[in-house]
Amino acid sequence: SDGCVAVAHPNIALVKYWGKRDEDLVLPCADSLSMTLDVFPTTTEIRLVDCQAQDVVIVDGAVDRGATARRITGFLDLVRERAGRSEAAVVATRNTVPVGAGLASSASGFAALALAAASAYGLPVEPVELSRLARRGSGSAARSIFGGFAIWHAGAPDAPDPDLASYAEPLAKTTLDLALVAALLETGPKPVSSREAMRRTVKTSPLFSDWLGMARGDCTVMREALARGDIATVGAIAERNALGMHQTMESAVPPVHYRTPASHRVLEEVHRMRAHGLQAWATMDAGPNVKVLCASDDAERVACVLRQLSGCVAVVARSGPGATLDKTV
Ligand code: DP6
Repeated sequence: SDGCVAVAHPNIALVKYWGKRDEDLVLPCADSLSMTLDVFPTTTEIRLVDCQAQDVVIVDGAVDRGATARRITGFLDLVRERAGRSEAAVVATRNTVPVGAGLASSASGFAALALAAASAYGLPVEPVELSRLARRGSGSAARSIFGGFAIWHAGAPDAPDPDLASYAEPLAKTTLDLALVAALLETGPKPVSSREAMRRTVKTSPLFSDWLGMARGDCTVMREALARGDIATVGAIAERNALGMHQTMESAVPPVHYRTPASHRVLEEVHRMRAHGLQAWATMDAGPNVKVLCASDDAERVACVLRQLSGCVAVVARSGPGATLDKTV
């Protein structure tokens, strides 16, 4: 049959994307930098159908008629417009990542969707081109097109075509073998979507301009630290950057709080590990889960410590692959 199936993995930002300068084009205020993970892939299949007026969206086996379906259809409208095509699609997507838990299911989701949809509708599938397209679905998805470490360029605001100027690309290979131990605390839906939280932060947080200045500097320092395999700097910058992002949203009006008492307990545990000589640093996204960065060789020890905390499931992730088409279908 003519179904296109794509697989993509989530990524975790070491320097966060938090704030858009253009909502419609999903253009960020600053560059961000991430590692694609080898856990929790999303698989998305698309079939074009001529005999049907509307897209059908199936999420984890059930037809969705809500916000997810609207967002996917909106994305497909963009793909159809670019391809000069009009067929509706049946989209079936499967997540293995706990949705809404701050593990970036929208990143793996729109990276897989961009690849599957571009193939199905005959758009170019060259990675940088795909990265720009995935960006339109969800900003962080631009980075999940690539495996390993990726940088997403904000693009110059005065570029002739700002859409063309903003894409992710892989960083040169590093000797650093980084692991990320995700402490999964809750898997319920988030109180505020990251989209809304980001918008509110840009509009109302008095810390936002300081945050931008810091994020820009962090990106440069992070690239250099990765290139020389300096895990202490990578970890320290990643932790400071993530906590800074949470401070900006917590100072928005009304404030956005993703950190729960359980998150704080894990954050304290990470500090304690460091005090005991275990090199581990925390990062957090738009959810209560804490992810712990460490050297690959220390990952099992870190996971073991986290599992001793009550109600904490620890999953070890390492560097994972970019988005791929499943050719067997
Ligand atoms: C906290 O990519 O989900 O994970 O572009 O509005 O879809 P939209 O936002 P999204 O935001 C991710 C924010 C973050 C940080 C990051 O991944 O860089």
